[in-house]
Amino acid sequence: MSGPIPERPRRLRQTAAVRRLVSENRLHPAELILPMFVKEGIDEPVLLDSMPGVQQHTLDSLVQAAREAVDAGVGGLMLFGVPQQHDEIGSGATDPKGILNRGLRRLRDVLGDTTVLMADLCLDEFTSHGHCGVLDQQGRVDNDATLQRYAEMAVVQAESGAHVVGLSGMMDGQVAACRAALDEADHQDTVILAYAVKYASAAYGPFREAVESTLEGDRSTYQQDPANATEALRELRLDLAEGADIVMVKPALPYLDVLRSVAEVSDVPVAAYQVSGEMAMIEAAGANGWIDRDRMVLESLVSIRRAGAQMILTYYATEVARRLRER
Ligand code: PBG
Repeated sequence: MSGPIPERPRRLRQTAAVRRLVSENRLHPAELILPMFVKEGIDEPVLLDSMPGVQQHTLDSLVQAAREAVDAGVGGLMLFGVPQQHDEIGSGATDPKGILNRGLRRLRDVLGDTTVLMADLCLDEFTSHGHCGVLDQQGRVDNDATLQRYAEMAVVQAESGAHVVGLSGMMDGQVAACRAALDEADHQDTVILAYAVKYASAAYGPFREAVESTLEGDRSTYQQDPANATEALRELRLDLAEGADIVMVKPALPYLDVLRSVAEVSDVPVAAYQVSGEMAMIEAAGANGWIDRDRMVLESLVSIRRAGAQMILTYYATEVARRLRER
């Protein structure tokens, strides 16, 4: 070795205290959003095989788990419904007594404004064919007919107590349609979280078990092709122009490049969804002893944060919020 080493990056890594001081990104419980499932017609919560620790809740266990999340400091809850009946147009989605709307009402009654209550706004859990929209005569997803269903759903969800509607269906014009319907019904304050960038991913498998999806085939005519990145910016531009208050990229970890480019240009908060399959991969490898599960959970989330997400939907929200508080 000739001469001194002019720069020594290791100097800032020498103790945990120094590393903590120079850390560029940190997770905070308030930025974590917990997705939750409420199922109609059950007396006991049902555990899901592919998502260890995640449950299909009864209305009572939903309230209990929501309280625990809020007590841990989690920033918001995203509710999905698992109805008993399905039909062609997903009637349960717009029925004020449908399971999702009942769940929202219960949570809002108990939690008030102490958390941010979000509702999945999509038809797939409610349709007999499992698609995110209604079908036309040829069995194709009918964009504009679906918008009318979404508009109705937005109003019912707002009336059931949702602070935020989460538009996950990937129909063209869905943000504008829901914004107009909400404003018309005097729900100007209802926030629209737009799944602006949502890929037709293999990583939704465990979720489809959780909502007992009836889907045959795939969603490639409305969700994006994993090969496309520029298209994400187009989807973002449209959703911003239509009035999205928060935009989301989904899935998260395989799409960090897309997340980064969206975060660079968005002037509204950017969320990312660590989806069910991302969790399942961590859990499966962890259970086999192939990775350190607890470390991987934090590493995956801080990576999503580093790529530019200001908030993260994750099934780990309550667990991680607690762990962050203990540190
Ligand atoms: C559609 C919706 C899906 C997810 C969230 N909203 C499934 C899909 O697009 O097929 C997936 C979430 C996850 O995998 O955790 N309502």
